[in-house]
Amino acid sequence: MSAAKTPSGTGASGDEAAGLAVADLDAAKAAAEWSRLAEAVARANRAYHAEDAPEISDAEYDALKRRLLAIEARFPGLASAESPAAQIGAAPSETFAKVRHAVRMLSLENAFAPEEIGDFDDRIRRYLNLGPDAPLIYTAEPKIDGLSLSLRYEHGRLVQAATRGDGETGEDVTGNARTIADIPETLTGAPAVLEVRGEVYMSHADFAALNARQAEAGAKTFANPRNAAAGSLRQLDAGVTASRPLRFFAYAWGEHSEPLAATQMEAIERLNALGFATNPLTRRCDGPEALLAAYREIEQKRATLGYDIDGVVYKVDDLALQHRLGYRSTTPRWAIAHKFPAELAWTRLEAIDIQVGRTGALSPVARLLPVTVGGVVVSNATLHNEDYIAGRDSNGDPIRGGKDIREGDWVQVYRAGDVIPKVADVDLAKRPADAVPYVFPTTCPECGSDAVREEGDSVRRCTGGLICPAQAVEKLKHFVSRAAFDIEGLGARQIEMFFADDTLPIREPADIFTLAARDAANPSKLKNREGFGEKSVRNLFQAIDDKRNIQLSRLIFALGIRHVGEVAAQDLARHYGSWKALVAALDLARPAAEAHRAADLAEKAERDAARKEGRRPRIKEARTAALTQAAVPEDAAAAWADLVGTDGIGPVLALSLSDSLANPKERAAIDRLIALPITDLPPEAPATASPVAGKTVVFTGTLERMTRAEAKARAEALGARVSGSVSPRTDLVIAGPGAGSKAKEAEKLGIEMIDEDAWLRLIGG
Ligand code: IVH
Repeated sequence: MSAAKTPSGTGASGDEAAGLAVADLDAAKAAAEWSRLAEAVARANRAYHAEDAPEISDAEYDALKRRLLAIEARFPGLASAESPAAQIGAAPSETFAKVRHAVRMLSLENAFAPEEIGDFDDRIRRYLNLGPDAPLIYTAEPKIDGLSLSLRYEHGRLVQAATRGDGETGEDVTGNARTIADIPETLTGAPAVLEVRGEVYMSHADFAALNARQAEAGAKTFANPRNAAAGSLRQLDAGVTASRPLRFFAYAWGEHSEPLAATQMEAIERLNALGFATNPLTRRCDGPEALLAAYREIEQKRATLGYDIDGVVYKVDDLALQHRLGYRSTTPRWAIAHKFPAELAWTRLEAIDIQVGRTGALSPVARLLPVTVGGVVVSNATLHNEDYIAGRDSNGDPIRGGKDIREGDWVQVYRAGDVIPKVADVDLAKRPADAVPYVFPTTCPECGSDAVREEGDSVRRCTGGLICPAQAVEKLKHFVSRAAFDIEGLGARQIEMFFADDTLPIREPADIFTLAARDAANPSKLKNREGFGEKSVRNLFQAIDDKRNIQLSRLIFALGIRHVGEVAAQDLARHYGSWKALVAALDLARPAAEAHRAADLAEKAERDAARKEGRRPRIKEARTAALTQAAVPEDAAAAWADLVGTDGIGPVLALSLSDSLANPKERAAIDRLIALPITDLPPEAPATASPVAGKTVVFTGTLERMTRAEAKARAEALGARVSGSVSPRTDLVIAGPGAGSKAKEAEKLGIEMIDEDAWLRLIGG
């Protein structure tokens, strides 16, 4: 590290206090030394967190902070709430080692209304092909409001504790977890490998006592028990964690070398027998009604439990059924969290601002007089869209009794879980006399382009595309985000900085990968800038280089094309296998895409005409006429059919994708990116080598041993592509009774066809 980058004062050898042991300082020297250290620590905190550009090593940082704390311990008068030593969460997360979870740590789907629980049960029955009267047992247990932790035991010894992180990679907090009394160090009679998962939390009484102690010491107090638990677990010094009264409830498990039990309830009992605290309110329920009864009972006990819970979790009891139900991308199908109702508060709506997002959506944001809602200060809330402000739903029917929302109004704000606060209601009795109806802008506040609402879209969108700076910058933020390129050291904040920079700008994705070369050619170097240093710039360029090899699905997702989410990007990557093939297919299919848009317009015109003339619309005829008139070449029609026949890809997504690649500005930006030395890795290899990996399969006819959804999920888990239509690319057709045109087509094309039993034998049951 260069001397110029040393935090001010730390190198001041003339300062005699700096050379003395803490025990040798007198009050005056201690005060001078405290100021010097406090400034150095604060500066390092700023560089690390606010600027994501550390200037000193972790070891140097720790040494500074230790000395600061030692001085504060000897001269308590110097400690204050402002002291950088009191900043919790200042522990840089990079100082915890990363842990890749052997089994991902997932989250839960949320439900709020009782009807959703019936839907949950219906969905499960449908998936498992169970009739409405077949017995199906669930468990209900409190949803603990803390943070989840995974504990890995090998041969009965605790070897690792990791936070959830992003679900795939968490932080190693083993030393800290060992200080928690509820977490056993050794287990007797456990499987050789067992990952126990559960929630770290703090009781109300311990939380109050901790805050009182913190306040007395002039240190930071915590907003709620969950923050206190998180801040206490993520301490660099396990000694601090040990002094914090944390607790742990076990409710789930990750990798395990032997089955724990046959049911959820028995597994929980087993964990309890192994020495873990499990929640005593956990019970079995025989259906939605019993679940709702458990919910009401737990809700009634909520205030007297002595710790925070934010809902009730329902899980399918039978572990074999859990296994069959499996997972969606981030949540299990076999569980749901029934959350307690949202928390409410009334406050004044000071202004309505419009934010422009990645896809051009104009989103109205309520700027509020700050108000505490459920323990959190809220000053912004979403107003959804222009209809919501005007007091009507997407069909034009009144909501809130048709009351509109105006600047200056007194509004009700609510929060539910971690979601963005929303404005729920408005008090007309308190409306100021001069309040005027809100006029939603029809031009983009960021670039002045027209903002239009398309038929059937509740959102008004800026038409500026990449010329709109707001869209361009949001697209870039999306490009570097976690599920996309995930470039360390290049987050939303840095993107905004580089976007506004004239010397070394990043205005489109390709600019990221030319950053190092452009910096080398510039007379003024990035490393000499405020907030950067030699090391952080080297790390940044390395992190960018590391992403020149990227999974195809991430590349597709990163482009931020409307409707193309993570799952669709994976479907496209699996189906086409390479970027080149995807683009070639879309270019080939373009005349068909245009024809389908023309058909959509013809359909709309026909509907309008029919409404006016009071007759039934002839939709099919209108579409067919438009398609015939477009005279789509056969190869284009086939490429389009293949695209929309790909499972998970519908016409709306296909059109959006086609439009993006046909838009000259967007296409040029994408081409500039692809022309760089960037490789798209083939789609992620399936978890296990299976006889169907990489094969395209089609299910048709009635399946008798499993539902369509289950068949599809299992095939995909084994690495197969599931398509909705038979084409020359199909490898295998699984035909049940009643198979019709698809089976005929397969026969015509000479594609292998098997029945459901043969399929089950092929994939191993
Ligand atoms: S089960 C595969 N059970 O809620 C899903 N989660 O919103 C495993 N949580 O990340 C989770 N109490 O941190 C489960 N009784 C409980 C829970 C619980 C709290 C947390 C957990 C999870 C989050 C999802």
